[in-house]
Amino acid sequence: MLKIAHRGAKGYEPENTLKSFRKALDLKADGIELDVHLSSDGHIIVIHDETIDRTTNGKGIVNTFSLAELKSFLIDGEYQIPTLTEVFDLVDKKCLINIELKGLGTASKVVALIEEYVLNKNWNYENFIVSSFDWNLLQETSNLNSNILIGVLTEEVLDKALAFAELIKAHAIHPDYQLLNSENVKQMQEKNFLVLPWTVDEEEDIQKIKSYNVDGIISDFPDRL
Ligand code: G3P
Ligand code: CA
Repeated sequence: MLKIAHRGAKGYEPENTLKSFRKALDLKADGIELDVHLSSDGHIIVIHDETIDRTTNGKGIVNTFSLAELKSFLIDGEYQIPTLTEVFDLVDKKCLINIELKGLGTASKVVALIEEYVLNKNWNYENFIVSSFDWNLLQETSNLNSNILIGVLTEEVLDKALAFAELIKAHAIHPDYQLLNSENVKQMQEKNFLVLPWTVDEEEDIQKIKSYNVDGIISDFPDRL
């Protein structure tokens, strides 16, 4: 069962920072999950929200700032917002990277960056899973490069996610863990999809979800898995 660290090891370090991804590696996570938006000059930025207000000392919408401007804001007074390239280089194939597409325009940029690492840096497509709640972005990703592994994110009825996963030949389904039971997990797995629920943090929930034989769990505390 894959232990995937949510926004890095968010339970221990500031989310989506190099420090949190380093912590996830220290905790021997099998994968990290992160969120991406674009800067105004087209760089892929690792941050959860559309704005920088909650996580940095600045205010404003991520895609209205250039990379240089975004780098001037600090998280917890210390850390810069990372680019996706910086995270790839830190991880250096040591674990799976689950890239959640959040912002407009992210699909084509992320596909291009994955292709660069696969073609020029000896990485494999299996080193990445691209997920999103925005299924149009997943369709775009799959149209651009059908080798890229896709995870269909859902917090609503599973039937729709399953149908869409079949349509685009996804690799995995990433459901809100509260939607799961042993029957529907089995149903997804029988169709050859990995089941990777989020965000499971409490011991009791971890035990329950594990009893459904899921393929992995996304958690703020990967060491609890
Ligand atoms: O990928 C699973 C999970 O990260 C989705 O929710 O809001 O934490 O991005 P959120
Ligand atoms: Ca996410």
